[in-house]
Amino acid sequence: MAVSYIQYLSERQSARHKRDSEGEWAYASNITEYNLKNKVTIGTQVADEAKQDWLETTKYHWKSFRNLDLRRQFKKYTDLGVAALPTKKFEKYSKTLSEMEKIYATAKLCDFHNSSKCDLYLEPEITHILSTSRDPDELKNVWIEWRKAIGPKVKDMFETYVNLVNEAARLNNFTVGPKVKDMFETEQFHNLWEQIKPLYLQIHAYVRNKLRQKYGDIVSEKGPIPAHLLGNMWAQTWSNIADISLPYPNITSPTVTQEMINQGYTPLKMFQTANDFFVSLNLTAMPGSFWEKSILEKPSDGRELICHASAWDFFDNDVRIKQCTDVTEEDLYTAHHEMGHIEYFLQYASQPVAYREGANSGFHEAVGDVISLSVSTPKHLQKIGLLNQTNLDAAALLNNLYKTGLDKIVFLPFGYLMDLWRWDVFAGKIPKSNWNCKWWELRHDYQGVEPPVDRSEDDFDPAAKYHIIANVPYIRYFVSFVIQFQFHRALCLKAGDYVPDDPNKPLHNCDIYQSTTAGNALGDMLQMGSSKPWPDAMEVLTGQRNMDASGLLEYFKPLQTWLEEENNKNGVFIGWEPTQRVCSSTKKENQELETSSESS
Ligand SMILES: *[C@@H]1O[C@H](CO)[C@@H](O)[C@H](O)[C@H]1NC(C)=O
Ligand SMILES: *[C@@H]1O[C@H](CO)[C@@H](O)[C@H](O)[C@H]1NC(C)=O
Ligand SMILES: *[C@@H]1O[C@H](CO)[C@@H](O)[C@H](O)[C@H]1NC(C)=O
Ligand SMILES: [Zn+2]
Repeated sequence: MAVSYIQYLSERQSARHKRDSEGEWAYASNITEYNLKNKVTIGTQVADEAKQDWLETTKYHWKSFRNLDLRRQFKKYTDLGVAALPTKKFEKYSKTLSEMEKIYATAKLCDFHNSSKCDLYLEPEITHILSTSRDPDELKNVWIEWRKAIGPKVKDMFETYVNLVNEAARLNNFTVGPKVKDMFETEQFHNLWEQIKPLYLQIHAYVRNKLRQKYGDIVSEKGPIPAHLLGNMWAQTWSNIADISLPYPNITSPTVTQEMINQGYTPLKMFQTANDFFVSLNLTAMPGSFWEKSILEKPSDGRELICHASAWDFFDNDVRIKQCTDVTEEDLYTAHHEMGHIEYFLQYASQPVAYREGANSGFHEAVGDVISLSVSTPKHLQKIGLLNQTNLDAAALLNNLYKTGLDKIVFLPFGYLMDLWRWDVFAGKIPKSNWNCKWWELRHDYQGVEPPVDRSEDDFDPAAKYHIIANVPYIRYFVSFVIQFQFHRALCLKAGDYVPDDPNKPLHNCDIYQSTTAGNALGDMLQMGSSKPWPDAMEVLTGQRNMDASGLLEYFKPLQTWLEEENNKNGVFIGWEPTQRVCSSTKKENQELETSSESS
């Protein structure tokens, strides 16, 4: 009886998910009042129905079932999430989130050099300025204005959202916030970070020294690095400033971005390139409907949309990506990242609905990144004609490893602190009156960055990051950036393109392209979905049952050695002394300071 009930439940759940996703997609790809109303109406109906089913489900004494698989599926259906809220409150929750996303997605800034031109969106214009401008005044301006355009406008909405999420958590019998802590032991994040920190301190110190050579005293010798100079709006990855900080600056070649532009690459071609890689591994090609229904570049019809890249599973072989793709190397890897999600959807499509998700959320984020680790090797880029450099000696490889480090090592403290902040906000440990200053305390302590100007509680800088206002948990990215190196190592061993202790086959130069042995092993793990606890899935591919930074540390070993020698040779200070920037409860006094520093 329970078996046929779960079958019935799966069908209903699947139909609801489809309906809900269509409403979400219509709004996310075309922000209008009508689409908002429609989305909220559908979402509220779906939540009501889920609640009805849930009442029925809880009547089963599933905890005493002998059939472990059945028990596992029931358990998954007993977490109702925010649908547990009373109808009116659910509606409020849905509208609040949509409103915050709209403010974020439609924010526009004026051009620093032409104040009457006020049509700069985050994607592509503002992102482009952050990554390519080397004018500190322009960068500071864009950095400040972006935060001004969002933070103060959403702060009260964010409070409403936090209260509603907590109310739902109580109704689900969780203490606070989204259900994070039963999926992961949060202590292990701390341990992983301690493993990685010595490497981070080296790259941080090296970059600060290089930026000081370029920009002078606005970068202090021993303090945190000003966050606007790192090539990214959130200083979360720094590879966009690789060109001004390379270990061997004389070894250069046209950049991958330049090659792509020269060769007339389009967003479509970028996704085709990604698809070719998956197919070369004997994994599943994107279905026809993917190419028809996806939005792979920013529509030019003037409609507003949520450009933040995302991958969608509507079930029934209907899978889509929405990405305002720019022809850049960074977006080429983002295309692989998003397609990794789609490949996972396709691989676990024959699992029961309750298992059509990642083994854990970090696995989902890791799939496409693992592929990118192969794609971004100089030898692969050369193979696909995006790197026109014949000499791939040790120095050239180290330059490339450094650039990868500016993304992969540098991201880790950011990936960790996002949810350290959010968990404490949900738990009520950070009062609203301290939200922003606590944010900067974490940014300082973990990343060693500081804002370019003083901040106050009149600002709300966390909201300038999409995942905060869009309710997307973040620790999954931290997990992904660790486990993707475990996956990569296992796949490279299978592909035979990495041999431990062989200097000719180091992990950082491994490319698994066309290895069906590696591809099949990856597929075996992906096909499991969440049908088993994640350590089981990890074991299938890696033989390990835990998350562990040893893959990452091995990958970056040559870089770590080089950075230590270089920093030592130059007497560079490691770590950082406390910032001189102030974060105060209100702006009043430092407003003046800010204005005067602005005009100087
Ligand atoms: C956007 O949504 C509106 C409904 O509000 C619809 O009339 C319009 O056709 C949609 N535009 C596109 C390009 O889908
Ligand atoms: C256990 O439950 C699953 C459904 O979750 C069902 O397919 C399977 O047949 C059950 N096994 C036994 C031995 O009853
Ligand atoms: C993970 O497990 C391996 C054995 O597979 C062990 O050697 C290692 O110490 C563990 N790492 C952590 C961080 O627990
Ligand atoms: Zn993702």
